[in-house]
Amino acid sequence: MNLVYKAIAHKLLILAASLFPIYVYGQASKNQMGLKDYYRDYFPIGVAVTAKQLSDSAQKNFILKHFNSLTAENAMKMGPIHPKENLFFWKDADAIVAFAQQHNLKVRGHTLCWYNQTPRWMFYDNLGNQVSKEVLLQRLKDHIYAVVGRYRDRVYAWDVVNEAVSDEHDQLLRNSLWYQICGEDFIYKAFQYAHEADPKAILFYNDYNTENPDKRQRIYKLLKKMRDTGIPVHAIGLQAHWSFNDPSQERLESTIKLFASLGLKIQVTELDVSIYSNGHQQDKAVITPVSILTAEREQQQAEQYAMIFKVFRNHKKYISGVTFWNLSDRYSWLDNFPVRGRKNYPLLFDTQLEPKKAYWNVVNF
Ligand code: GLA
Repeated sequence: MNLVYKAIAHKLLILAASLFPIYVYGQASKNQMGLKDYYRDYFPIGVAVTAKQLSDSAQKNFILKHFNSLTAENAMKMGPIHPKENLFFWKDADAIVAFAQQHNLKVRGHTLCWYNQTPRWMFYDNLGNQVSKEVLLQRLKDHIYAVVGRYRDRVYAWDVVNEAVSDEHDQLLRNSLWYQICGEDFIYKAFQYAHEADPKAILFYNDYNTENPDKRQRIYKLLKKMRDTGIPVHAIGLQAHWSFNDPSQERLESTIKLFASLGLKIQVTELDVSIYSNGHQQDKAVITPVSILTAEREQQQAEQYAMIFKVFRNHKKYISGVTFWNLSDRYSWLDNFPVRGRKNYPLLFDTQLEPKKAYWNVVNF
């Protein structure tokens, strides 16, 4: 019943906002209502950004209209921020954090330990030999202390370990250099170091294909072990690089319930909905970068967006944030992945920053 009243109240609010926006939102017109405003009773809505975007006034204003949380698309990853052992490149990450502070936005830190976009120096000594476990963990600790320490109190959450679980059925952890040198300890240590560096930060394990029943079972196994042994993991990030036809509602709901059963908070950390069906995996069969955006496909994408946001709203007690991976169809990392040079249209705004059908499906509820 309570939910029914809330839904009615929400509808009335949207109606009132469209009639008398100045009273409801204290702003001049309905046009100023952004995504974040529709979701203000649910969860923050974030977006992955570059420092450059924030200095472009059109994109900057657009970001401020729709989003109240930021993630650095690349600027906080180990490679860009810590290119040499004794050299940090803070400029871009600092600019993003300063912008967020200035405009009262949240910042999710992404990411402290990943097999990809990690500089080579991390794993090798001056002679080119692989370092020992002891040296690698010390380097990881120094890295985490420096980065988390710098943004303490300004970055409220960190993706501590990204993509450590294997896609292979018979293998729990990805056979990365981290794993080859440290075994599974690199995961536990990364969380311990991050917790020491900022005891208030919410610490995430972040991964893709989390709705795949096979992979999510392996992720569950890892996280359960960490919870049972007191490793400070507080939340899981579902990257959510999805497709117009995947995941299904059933898979999404069962995934949320499964991870919530571990007492973890859940965030959707890198959302996009590809117009192709080959999602995150390289599809070797697709050779030509032909782009298709038919009216039918756009409609399917809009329906998929409607479904997933309905599921998020219905599970708002577990979901503490939803972040989009890129701003609009003008640019998406999926323009080049998994098929180089093939344009994709995975977001809520088109190449002119105009709201798509999918956008209206997400805000009209
Ligand atoms: C993964 C990473 C992100 C980003 C995307 C592709 O999901 O977590 O940081 O690199 O791949 O852009």
